[in-house]
Amino acid sequence: MSKSALKALSPDLKAHKKRMDKTNMRKMFSKDEKRFAKFSTSIEGMVFDYSKNRIDANVMKSLVKLAKQAGVEDYRDKMFAGEVINGTEKRAVLHTALRNTKGEPVVVDGKDIMPDIQKVLRAMGKFSNAVRSGKYQVTGGKITDVVNIGIGGSDLGPAMVTLALAPYHNGPNCHFVSNVDGADIADTLAKIEPATTLFIIASKTFTTQETMTNANTAREWLRKKLKKKDVGVHFAALSTNLKGTREFGIEDSRTFGFWDWVGGRYSLWGAIGLSIMLAVGPKNFAKILEGAQAADTHFKETKLSDNVPVLMALLGVWNRNILGFATHAVLPYDNRLSRFAAYLQQLDMESNGKRVGMNGKPLKYSSGAVVWGEPGTNGQHAFYQLIHQGTDVIPCDFLIAAKPQENLGDHHALLVANCFAQSEALMVGKTQDEVFKELNASGMDAKDIKKLAPHKVFEGNRPSNTFLYEKLDPKTLGMLIALYEHKVHVQGVIWGLNSYDQWGVELGKALANQLVPLVKGDAKDKSKDASTLGLVDAFHLLQK
Ligand code: F6P
Repeated sequence: MSKSALKALSPDLKAHKKRMDKTNMRKMFSKDEKRFAKFSTSIEGMVFDYSKNRIDANVMKSLVKLAKQAGVEDYRDKMFAGEVINGTEKRAVLHTALRNTKGEPVVVDGKDIMPDIQKVLRAMGKFSNAVRSGKYQVTGGKITDVVNIGIGGSDLGPAMVTLALAPYHNGPNCHFVSNVDGADIADTLAKIEPATTLFIIASKTFTTQETMTNANTAREWLRKKLKKKDVGVHFAALSTNLKGTREFGIEDSRTFGFWDWVGGRYSLWGAIGLSIMLAVGPKNFAKILEGAQAADTHFKETKLSDNVPVLMALLGVWNRNILGFATHAVLPYDNRLSRFAAYLQQLDMESNGKRVGMNGKPLKYSSGAVVWGEPGTNGQHAFYQLIHQGTDVIPCDFLIAAKPQENLGDHHALLVANCFAQSEALMVGKTQDEVFKELNASGMDAKDIKKLAPHKVFEGNRPSNTFLYEKLDPKTLGMLIALYEHKVHVQGVIWGLNSYDQWGVELGKALANQLVPLVKGDAKDKSKDASTLGLVDAFHLLQK
């Protein structure tokens, strides 16, 4: 089993660490001119360079052995076959079926689920075409603006993808409202016309507090602005809860369904992707699915030592569990991927932020790293100082396109140079000798050089991966997202935890519901702790 695999192989991996501690990447690169060729691979033309990690062939051999012993292949096959791998919720995990564009049967409980998936996809396509062409008419005629109201998986994926694919956007304007903070919906309502707006209420459960609150506010707003009888056509729903959507008053013909075996954070490939489809059109949406399917095929068919998501996962485990690095930065040199890290935070941290294994016993090693990031080059002028010289080592993923969407003078060459320079700087660093030489050459006084030199030294030997793709188009984006999904899956298997539940979000939700009457001043509850009660009292005082 996975838990014992990581434990069993830890001594071997720790011995590799000791060996790696005696050298560094700069030395390894200078000794081996084939290092890039050895430790890079590709998928559908996208290069994955992982040579700037503290690894050698023996480390990689042991890591691949770990994947084998942990049962990665077996769990992967179980997932694709629709076995119940989400044990605590007794569910299959089949987001991969949503992009099974070839339509080969996928059987759950004796039933092929592909016809239902294709039916929803066709309905989404028909509706999108009608909205985009103006055939679907609302009070003011053609829809100009679409507001997706949802949170977590019902927001982050569509919001991230819509922004990433802005150059392909030829449909209505898309807005995303997620936060229960009224500022979010208020700012959005200020930008749109009620008569030409479509609200999409995106919620798997159709019970989520934030989403239902925003949905009710949107409906009230429309009721005030339009005739009550006209409000219904301004709504569509994306949900597994047909009872809930009907009670809210959304017609079944504008309700697009999905199923329990699609986790919220894995759901952009189906109904939850409606806002994406409205923005970029059904053909581009199909390309996103095509890219994801290419990643699925690669994950299923490529040997572990060359399998991109498996390598991403293994390097993550090496960095997290053996080298002890607690966070992981995702740094797209692609401004339109500015929500990518936020999207990955849910994908990765909601999936693998667990302290017990599938057997309910506490894990004896660290699990999910903290994922964070911002696009370069902006990050360089903010937090890269810490990445280069801080006391913590932060493994990074750099992402960059060979071809920009816009040909604007030197912009892209500068962007690429910056991206490659960062991973180079992290790897090579700058030794004390080099600093001394540089300062001497500048004519600085010896005393000052001695004082300044330590501040200018870069330890180097800091790990990173680089993804280099041709262009950030729908297919590439679909592929990238699916690769990260599979990375998370593989790490979950190695850590022996359930990547597909999210019990950790429940306690806060329940306590918030309990606190609503106290905050509103409708009830008192002396059983709460002094800090919580003190804050409620202070809140009431400040409100006066
Ligand atoms: O925050 C927990 C969570 O359940 C996420 O997993 C999910 O993506 C999000 O809430 C939204 O849930 P729903 O789509 O049911 O509104």
